[in-house]
Amino acid sequence: MDMIVRNARLRGAEGLWDIEVEAGKIAALAESQTDGRKRPKAEAANEIDAGGNLVSPPFVDPHVHLDAVFLDGRNTYNRSGTLLEGIKNWGTEKLTLTEEEIYQNALRAVRWYVANGTLKIRTHVDTTLESLINVRALTKLRDDVKDTVDIQIVAFPQDGIFTAEPFAELMERSLKMGCDVVGGIPHNELTREDGVKDVEYAFELAEKYGCLVDIHCDETGDAQSRFVETMARETIRRGMQGRVTASHTTAMHNYDNDYAFKLIGILARADMQMVTNPFDNSVLQNRNDGYPRRRGHTRADELLARGVNVCIGHDSIMDPWYPMGKASMLAAANLFMHYGHFSGHDQIPVLFDMITGNSARALRAQDSYGIGVGKPADFVVLDAKDEYDAIRLESECLFVVRGGRVVSRAEPAVRRVTLAGRESAVTFKSGVNGR
Ligand code: FE2
Repeated sequence: MDMIVRNARLRGAEGLWDIEVEAGKIAALAESQTDGRKRPKAEAANEIDAGGNLVSPPFVDPHVHLDAVFLDGRNTYNRSGTLLEGIKNWGTEKLTLTEEEIYQNALRAVRWYVANGTLKIRTHVDTTLESLINVRALTKLRDDVKDTVDIQIVAFPQDGIFTAEPFAELMERSLKMGCDVVGGIPHNELTREDGVKDVEYAFELAEKYGCLVDIHCDETGDAQSRFVETMARETIRRGMQGRVTASHTTAMHNYDNDYAFKLIGILARADMQMVTNPFDNSVLQNRNDGYPRRRGHTRADELLARGVNVCIGHDSIMDPWYPMGKASMLAAANLFMHYGHFSGHDQIPVLFDMITGNSARALRAQDSYGIGVGKPADFVVLDAKDEYDAIRLESECLFVVRGGRVVSRAEPAVRRVTLAGRESAVTFKSGVNGR
């Protein structure tokens, strides 16, 4: 054996387990031998004692903009906190960025992701610059880090496809340069009709180049923004079920309930993958409401209840739209627990699914993902006994393993508190299953 992780707690399994790794794959899963009476222990060059902590498949971020990370404050801050000022600031920053700066910022963010246990990332890249340096920087980065992190790149027309002459052509050029996924932004087009064309053009390119689709769709509070239905129609018409993601869809929050009911049935039929982005959409949406102020996210609970796959994305890290973020999918899940009304005891494990298996499915990576014999030896040893503690504490990743190699390790803070004359260690941990 190349590696054994002992005393691992696995989701959905009783007791503790040893994970045996050989040639980069999980070779065996055996119950941990705490009493010494079972079969002799396997031995490995590299042994990790998980100490009863949760060992999870790596986190997956299905939605981020790696070409914009760390730009808040580069020249200007988003002082109003609005989407419009974010778009304006990005519009000026991107004109002075160099390919090297984009690359280095994105690399720094990917390093943060690895430290936080995320080994699969889907990033959008702005394709509306004639130079396409954003595309060049991120395709190079994807290739440079591929031994550790899987990155998918979405050709994303930030300023619209039909708002100016070169954008449609730049999208196609970006795909030829190696983008993996076709994007779109129908609600940013000048008219509703152009929005429909935006979606149709993305699907045409996806068919032509054999790509997946992931469209920024209906990211507005406007209840009349209904482009996700066009996405579902195109998906069904072209037989692309399971290969199409609708990101954001915040307008769905404000749809009439009867329309939303009908729509969700169609989304289920299209096997549409939905991504909600709690960091950005909790602060950017419905700013014109005054009070009461609506929440700005898609109908995650209703979608899941009717069999539609829903994932959580990170979207931003200190960029023109959102000033916070540390590449932590656990932090995103924690926020969405509050914001999406997911605090029920049985809902919290679903949040964990939304940053792991659900997102792997959206990226079409489900067959090589998970903790099982024959799967790649990619996993995270969390400083938590279960998903309740992991999300509550936004736990550290003690070890992050890729293909049987440790690619990140952490030593969590040690706190010693003296109270009533006695010193003791404080970890904030609870027992198993949230007790
Ligand atoms: Fe986005």
